[in-house]
Amino acid sequence: MGFLETLGVKCINELAIREKRVFLRTDFNFPADESENVADFDRMEKIIPTIRHILERNARLIIASHFGRPESEKDIQYTLEPFAAKLAEILDQDIYFFEDCVGMGAMQMVRDLKPGQILVLENLRFNEDEKKGSTAFARDLAKMCDVYINDAFGVSHRKDTSIAVLPRFTDTKGAGLSLKDEVDVLSKFLGMGHGSGLCIMLGGSNVADKIGLIRPMLDIADKIIVGGAVAHVFLAAKGIRSGATEVDESKIPLAKEILKSAGVRKVEIVLPVDFVVAETVNSTETMTCNADSFPEGMTAFDIGPETVELFARKAAECSQLFWSGPMGVYEKPLFLNGSVRLAEKIAKFPVLKVVGGGDTGLMLKKSNLTNSFDHVFTGGMAALEFLKNGGNLPGIDALKG
Ligand code: 3PG
Repeated sequence: MGFLETLGVKCINELAIREKRVFLRTDFNFPADESENVADFDRMEKIIPTIRHILERNARLIIASHFGRPESEKDIQYTLEPFAAKLAEILDQDIYFFEDCVGMGAMQMVRDLKPGQILVLENLRFNEDEKKGSTAFARDLAKMCDVYINDAFGVSHRKDTSIAVLPRFTDTKGAGLSLKDEVDVLSKFLGMGHGSGLCIMLGGSNVADKIGLIRPMLDIADKIIVGGAVAHVFLAAKGIRSGATEVDESKIPLAKEILKSAGVRKVEIVLPVDFVVAETVNSTETMTCNADSFPEGMTAFDIGPETVELFARKAAECSQLFWSGPMGVYEKPLFLNGSVRLAEKIAKFPVLKVVGGGDTGLMLKKSNLTNSFDHVFTGGMAALEFLKNGGNLPGIDALKG
């Protein structure tokens, strides 16, 4: 039995969707480069099986997604138009795009849609109600669909309107094939406790989201390896300052509490011992220094070679590894090495090893290592929240019944 089935959530292949208006919530929040241009469209492949399933049943397909965190109502940098074009290319089929996600115009486009045709709506986050869990916005979206499908695992930990509220206004709803696949793999990690050999390895630049998840991980993991921006908060909590590297000071008390709690529970927190540093992220010259002897004015942009060895040695002691977040500023070739060397070593370990998040997935792809890992989740935060909550996510909960 699949994990969703145990929760009473149906999968799209159990629903009658023939010629219906199917609203497909996807996650087009693909990794972007420094200018916020999409750096990798490959993740689109994940939703193609669901799309084909819908088209084969001659349904009318309405695709909605978010991209980025737009601040103004319509920030054209975050338009979904290029995604519609890319999808048309992959499917070799014309696709309609509409410049809004609700309203009379969008409704008319939906009315005009014929069986087998696809409409991509504009970025849901251009409407401020998407982030508010708004009933009114959910009702407007619901007018466009007979069937609601969530194939957006990466954002299913959010209470966004189209994720957590809209499904409550649709009688027929379920999970897409990619969402089902993601939670089936993740559910293998559920029910773990101390002694089961789980190692969580965290990196990335998002300190606020990640550090909040470390404390609950103390209940399930035997080891937590910390790189990326969060590592500097933990080092600061131990009195080690990383030169000019920016540290979120407000999180230091939490890091101290986590370190104390980890000691009591005998969970090992592994921190970097050396870094690759430079004056700025655009510098062409770098050097390596120990974590406790930063040259003045230097900032850490990657883990150093001794840290790679240490992290790999610690990860090798575990039987399952969950990795979310690159160890350095992987978008820059000079600071990609730490993550890649580590991935190369881990790739050889005969353990269940999975990776979460678009950036970590792209880093593996850049180093041709994707196939050496058991699974690459589309959302690192969603996967960690899933583990933290014992398999409950707002987006999955809303699909029940
Ligand atoms: C992701 O890329 O992690 C998801 O799409 C969620 O995006 P968010 O963190 O902006 O809500």
